Amino acid sequence: PRQFFVGGNFKMNGVAQSITDIVNNLNAAKLDNSTEVVISPPAIYLALTRELADPKIGVAAQNVYDKPNGAFTGEISVEQLRDTKINWAVIGHSERRVILKETDEFIARKTKAAIEGGVSVIFCIGETLEEREANKTIEVVTRQLNAAAKELSAEQWEKVVIAYEPVWAIGTGKVATTEQAQEVHAAIRKWLESISAHAQENVRIIYGGSVSEKNCRELATQPDVDGFLVGGASLKPAFVDIINARI
Ligand code: 13P
Repeated sequence: PRQFFVGGNFKMNGVAQSITDIVNNLNAAKLDNSTEVVISPPAIYLALTRELADPKIGVAAQNVYDKPNGAFTGEISVEQLRDTKINWAVIGHSERRVILKETDEFIARKTKAAIEGGVSVIFCIGETLEEREANKTIEVVTRQLNAAAKELSAEQWEKVVIAYEPVWAIGTGKVATTEQAQEVHAAIRKWLESISAHAQENVRIIYGGSVSEKNCRELATQPDVDGFLVGGASLKPAFVDIINARI
């Protein structure tokens, strides 16, 4: 069975004090021991978060660069993450795809660089509202996955958590229905067959987009929903209820 996984993506929110409060609250809370928890603060607070957080809580960068070092102003390398004890990175978030114009190929290269450098990846995919309405959801997520598949070996996929985040559900309060989420997750699971039987069985597929303490339990009943990637609610005490969605 796949371990339930809940990520908290703080995005560009928080300052040292509020992030300290969030982490202290998580440290003190009773979290489901069988859930893997990974939080992702802004880059400048990664080291602070790693220092404060209970060792069983993972910490993820919200981005990483594909080159090992050099003249890349503003970027952070995989080695620098490892040096700061950061073992996870969120890659391909729709806000980076849409606002920062990151391409499928660039995202795939960053994913490969992270995994080769020992950093596991929360790999984000998902369609826009326009793409969903044009019945292109499966085509879009397949294209995004195929780009990564060109770069990764079957073994490397085991270091990936796939986050299905429909763009129309992110920050909108418009969560996907359990049926919509399960349908796409099942299609992704089917796609994983092209990687390996082992990957198909073991790679976690988590859902993101307006997940809350109210809707998480029903989503978590679905056979291919292996957890969540939470934005807004990860900044609030209710994040604990989402982590505990299965108990
Ligand atoms: P919200 O939970 O705020 O909709 O954000 C989801 C998300 O983008 C997580 O990466």
